[in-house]
Amino acid sequence: MIKIGENVYWVGYIDWNLRSFHGYSTPYGTTYNAYLILDDKPTLIDTVKGYGSGDMLRRISEIIHPSKIQYIVSNHAEMDHSGAIDQLLDFCPQAEVVCSPKGKEGLLKHFKKNWKFKVVDSGETLSIGKRNLQFHLTPMVHWPDSMITYLKEQKILFSNDSFGQHYATPERFVDEVGGDIIFREAAKYYANIVMPYSSQVIKALEGLQSLNMEFICPSHGLIWRKTPNIETIIDLYDKWANSRLSEQAVIVYDSMWHSTEKIALRIYELLDKENISVKLLNLQFNHISDVAADLLSAKAIIVGSPVLNNGMLPSIASFLSYLKGLKPKNRFGFTFGSYGWSKPSFKELEEALKLAGVELICEGSYFQYIPDEKDLASLSALAGKIKTKLREE
Ligand code: FEO
Repeated sequence: MIKIGENVYWVGYIDWNLRSFHGYSTPYGTTYNAYLILDDKPTLIDTVKGYGSGDMLRRISEIIHPSKIQYIVSNHAEMDHSGAIDQLLDFCPQAEVVCSPKGKEGLLKHFKKNWKFKVVDSGETLSIGKRNLQFHLTPMVHWPDSMITYLKEQKILFSNDSFGQHYATPERFVDEVGGDIIFREAAKYYANIVMPYSSQVIKALEGLQSLNMEFICPSHGLIWRKTPNIETIIDLYDKWANSRLSEQAVIVYDSMWHSTEKIALRIYELLDKENISVKLLNLQFNHISDVAADLLSAKAIIVGSPVLNNGMLPSIASFLSYLKGLKPKNRFGFTFGSYGWSKPSFKELEEALKLAGVELICEGSYFQYIPDEKDLASLSALAGKIKTKLREE
């Protein structure tokens, strides 16, 4: 266990070996954070994934016997946070499970057990002794049941999925880990988990304005404390949720015989020459969840594929399907590729990019077999359009 504040402890589980979170690559593992608050009515905020319950119970036992727990706050029914409630209730069957109305529905569906529920609404306060918990419902950040819990007297926000990062480390505070890695992982987390619900994030951030926060304790990764980290992560969430984008472009492509790659490289060179910040992302070497992080701040998304069986490469189809689910806003781009003996329409590729919410600003560029210098020179016009549009607003 690790002390966060007076009578507040981290008692979670570090999942060092997790490498995929339902398709989101997690090269640094993750943590499931549970927090124990000691007061007249000892309270646990969230639990951990089912297979981490042993570690969680051991950490709780370093402080109090788990049978003493009176309230288990379930901010979110997803199994990475509620998965160990059942094992914990074996020790403290008298404990009440505190959750939102949708949380109760979700927990009943998952566990099929009629625990002692205490259903709370937004703004409701629960006294746990000398201190009080205030609940704020944050539907769709990340599920309909999601809520956050504020420990008023100590200005600690237990934010559940919001402000999380998938990062396993023995340190518990962002300021204990050097470099930008935590901000990069927070961005990746936002892009892959939170971005589809950006409009709900905007509402949730409005609700946070009235809270004075000294700690933000998410349910994954490290805890934000002190200035400027708390202000910085809230500002970043505000920027990401409102799609305030930068003059950046990403070129996402795959290639069979390097022809589509030649086109990608030329587009990259043309944009780079114009001092546009541009990334070249080959899907053979970049996981789609990392690409999602790279396009979080980019206005332009340019996508290329060669023709395979009269369609696009499966890697590109998978990326575009994933991108559609993330619902990016205010992006534009175009498509490109190479083909063999007959020229297909490339409509499927263009449609898929449009369906992902990206505005097509011009017709794509497609060349037969290996593009020659004349073909590649024709890309200047497309790069010019991207440059103009990037600098329009
Ligand atoms: Fe970390 Fe939506 O669960």
